Amino acid sequence: MVVYEPREDSFLIVDAAKKRVFGDVLEIGVGSGYVSKEMSRLDSVKKIVGVDINPKAIEYAKKNNSDKKIEYIESNLFENVSDEFDFIVCNPPYLPDEDFSDPALFGGKKGYEYIERMIPLSLSHLKDSGELILLFSSLTNKVEVDRIVEKNMLQSELLEEKYIGSFETLYVYSIRKRKELIQLKKLGVEPVFFRKGKRGFIFTGSYEGKKVGIKIKNTHAETDSIYNEVNMLKKVNELCVGPKLLWSNEDIVVYEFFEGVSIGDWIVDKNKDKVIDVLREVFDELRILDINKLDKKEMSHPHKHVLVSDKGNICLIDYERCRLSDNLSNVTGFCQFVTSSHFGESLKKKGIIIDKEEIIKLSKEYKKDYSDEAYHKLIKLIKNS
Ligand SMILES: C[S@@+](CC[C@H](N)C(=O)[O-])C[C@H]1O[C@@H](n2cnc3c(N)ncnc32)[C@H](O)[C@@H]1O
Repeated sequence: MVVYEPREDSFLIVDAAKKRVFGDVLEIGVGSGYVSKEMSRLDSVKKIVGVDINPKAIEYAKKNNSDKKIEYIESNLFENVSDEFDFIVCNPPYLPDEDFSDPALFGGKKGYEYIERMIPLSLSHLKDSGELILLFSSLTNKVEVDRIVEKNMLQSELLEEKYIGSFETLYVYSIRKRKELIQLKKLGVEPVFFRKGKRGFIFTGSYEGKKVGIKIKNTHAETDSIYNEVNMLKKVNELCVGPKLLWSNEDIVVYEFFEGVSIGDWIVDKNKDKVIDVLREVFDELRILDINKLDKKEMSHPHKHVLVSDKGNICLIDYERCRLSDNLSNVTGFCQFVTSSHFGESLKKKGIIIDKEEIIKLSKEYKKDYSDEAYHKLIKLIKNS
């Protein structure tokens, strides 16, 4: 393995790092040792640990770029590193290559695989206040790097961007732990990415021995959705609706995880009677919300909002947009859904044929005064379909 000589990317990460680093610094993949040596010139830097998987690189760095502040260690990523650092600096192998021919240059088939492996491992070596300074290129795929950052509950800031010709741009990111990650760690929760929603990110984890869902805000979303979700979950939980809220603050909601699939997926292999039972249960919970003037919204397209367990228990999730209102669309929204072209077709395959004109008529009647009588007429129609 040859030693990576300093070039454009090395110079760019040095520019970015020298404006920021202090205290204890770890460099992953030192190559010639040029970056570590440059950082060691700063008075604010106390100690540098520089690692590389390539023994020749370590030998070269020790010989040509040594300093009393720097300790060079041969290590595959963090394997031989034990401490926590104020900064981790990394100009990784970031180019895509089928054959992965040179480990100094190529990060994997797609280019971002090395970064995907390195970032989660870096977290236990980064102080909570610490920062990972990471270089990558447009050939690595910036969208993927952003996804990796989000999945690990981190946040990034673009420090440098430089076009270097041949349709390639280099980027340097500052990556930090989100405050939610630090808070969850204090609670003893290790979040595992689950999915990205419109306004938030969902993680799973274990809290007080229970599997939990964890929702945090998407930093790009404008609305204060977490605050609303917490308030609304408290209200609906009192009505025995929704996943049980277990812990919250202004940034995080932790609730009991419900093992289930969306209602659209659930009905596929279920028989008519079971499907009718589940529809009835969903309608009844929506009716409870209507009675309590809580408008959940989005019930006319509730694919991700209605979960059903294998046994047929239901859970209405997601209260980000739920509001106190006199104009309620829970039951009526779900009426639209059960006669929508896609879900309506799935119901037909089960032999459940809901008269669309009739349900529209009964829905309108129900909407006039949300009376028990109007509701029971609707339910009778569903049961007899
Ligand atoms: C792009 S070079 C950067 C070298 C130097 N930091 C610079 O900027 O000039 C990437 C370096 O990462 C090292 N490397 C590759 N895989 C590694 C691993 N698993 N653990 C540690 N170092 C690794 C390579 O040997 C190479 O020296």
